[in-house]
Amino acid sequence: MSAFGRLDRLPRLRLGHAPTPLEHMRQLEGRFSGLTLLVKRDDCNGLAFGGNKVRQLEYYFGEAQAAGADTILITGAIQSNFVRLAAAAANQNGMHCHIQLEERVAKSDPLYRESGNVLLDRMLGATLHSYPEGEDEAGADANLEAIADDLRAQGRHPYVIHLAPGHPPLGALGYVEAARELAGQLAGEGLSLDEIVVPSGSGNTHGGILFGLRAAGIGARVTGICVRRDAALQTPRIARRCQQIADLLEVDNPVTDSDVILDDSFLAPGYGRLNDATRHAISTAARCEALILDPVYTGKTMAGFLDRAAKSSADRTMVFIHTGGTPAVFAYGADLAAHNA
Ligand SMILES: Cc1ncc(COP(=O)(O)O)c(C=O)c1O
Repeated sequence: MSAFGRLDRLPRLRLGHAPTPLEHMRQLEGRFSGLTLLVKRDDCNGLAFGGNKVRQLEYYFGEAQAAGADTILITGAIQSNFVRLAAAAANQNGMHCHIQLEERVAKSDPLYRESGNVLLDRMLGATLHSYPEGEDEAGADANLEAIADDLRAQGRHPYVIHLAPGHPPLGALGYVEAARELAGQLAGEGLSLDEIVVPSGSGNTHGGILFGLRAAGIGARVTGICVRRDAALQTPRIARRCQQIADLLEVDNPVTDSDVILDDSFLAPGYGRLNDATRHAISTAARCEALILDPVYTGKTMAGFLDRAAKSSADRTMVFIHTGGTPAVFAYGADLAAHNA
């Protein structure tokens, strides 16, 4: 059975609107003449400001629902989009959500700590916990497990969405599915894909879409823009992620080592911290295409996309995946306002 046949057999709870639009970025196409530049609007997939994590949560919630869970536990950075969307999905499905917020970014700005996604977490009624570390994925998971134990003792049925590698990458399946969707849209428009540019954080988006494109027989370049770790650390992580997807789907891995391409030129000074190229990319996207990008993920990815477009020959078709993250714009309001004054 094909990878997609296997995918269709796994539990999935539909949370988002799909297919998401695939649109031309006409003003940018005018700047880079000869290139076809498209944006896949995964920021427009419906649930509570949307974003890539909606697709990923569909497979976690599928498993949670099948297990009879009534409470979801999840961990992330203070301005995590993943946790905000988990809380939203839990509400829609009559579940409660416990969110653990990690100190991943050294920022004491009250906007960062209380606005954007944190405000939404509170509005959605999630129970918030804090975790003092930001780089201890296994520790963050262990702490979630301890909270889950307490909930079990109270008669609840918790389901933990783990952060550290080593658990089946159910979230990546959302982007295997997205690759199938995108392949169908491109075929419908008579376009053949040359390159796709995606953020590479946990690796579920990057690994999932790379695996899905290869499984669909599409050999386009997939450029992952590092947003969390440098290329030396992220490259083996993505290769492993693709193998884990193959194991989960019980198919051969169609991804080779040379398929795994990472660019960490836009990562400095680190996760969740702005740099000039990212500020410029955020302004360009807003002013040319009315695309609202965030400082943590999509702004850096657009910086990488513009760089790739500038280096590309004419007659290529490139896709930027807009993975959402828009609420973080308000949490980084002070940094962005200074640049856009
Ligand atoms: C808006 C947004 N884009 C991209 C990413 C990175 O995706 P992944 O963790 O699948 O690598 C995240 C992760 O939290 C995100 O919130």
